[in-house]
Amino acid sequence: MSVSTAIIPAAGYGTRMLPASYAVAKELLPVFDRPSIDWVVAEALAAGVERIILVSSRGKPGLMDHFDRHPHLETMLNGSGKTALAEQIKERAQAASFIEVRQGEALGLGHAVLCAAAACSDDRVAVLLPDDLYFGAPPALADLIAASDKAPQKGVIGLLQVEPEETRKYGMVGGRWDGAVMTIDRLVEKPAPEDAPSAMAITGRYVLPASIFAELRAQGSGALGEIQLTDALQRLARGAGMLGVIPRARRFDAGDHGGLLVASLRCGLDYGDPELRQRLTAEINR
Ligand code: G1P
Repeated sequence: MSVSTAIIPAAGYGTRMLPASYAVAKELLPVFDRPSIDWVVAEALAAGVERIILVSSRGKPGLMDHFDRHPHLETMLNGSGKTALAEQIKERAQAASFIEVRQGEALGLGHAVLCAAAACSDDRVAVLLPDDLYFGAPPALADLIAASDKAPQKGVIGLLQVEPEETRKYGMVGGRWDGAVMTIDRLVEKPAPEDAPSAMAITGRYVLPASIFAELRAQGSGALGEIQLTDALQRLARGAGMLGVIPRARRFDAGDHGGLLVASLRCGLDYGDPELRQRLTAEINR
């Protein structure tokens, strides 16, 4: 079984990324040799996704352009004999279909996901938050899909163990482990450490049944006057059920400057040529 559609909410202002994000969407800031969102799309494609729905907002040009064909560039590269590179650009743009929907108002993550509903017709949909980067095989999303395949009517989320001082940054969950899979019975969005159901946090990876859209539509605003995805997931946990898995790939928080820099360094060390790896290592140890 496969999950063919992925929603990538990318409508936020990116205030944690200022001043870099004044004129450039934060999702286009580079991690090593490509925009951070490119790594997220690559992960989704590696997990079998074929259709990407980007939820953007006004003032974020360039997001769709990045994944588009680049005919002038291709012609120029072909003309100068760089045919392999030209072919790579073409193949990349054709690897998936990209759909852009707009979130007109910043009404929360649940609302952003709901904005994509009209473009989703499958029984299950993946949601990937581009602030969370996962590197390495198997793709993080593939671990979630494997769990979802065994219980397709349930929701599956990616989990991460966090320290008590970090609970206010995440949706926190509680439940019962059965081997590597947690059956989740409680989800609380950004609680104080004493209110967190366990040390397990929600990372930005979800595989959800299409019924999530009805849950979100029925739901009023939650914390901060926003439509919280976590509230809809809590109801899903009481109904069809929610599972959690810890993806095996390595996670980086690319939502702030430090995280982006660390992710970039890691990629440079893992994917750069030997000369770059040597330069980076020497620089770090200097
Ligand atoms: C969102 C979710 C939260 C989750 C986090 C993961 O929060 O609402 O439940 O733990 O992503 O990165 P945000 O970081 O967008 O405020």
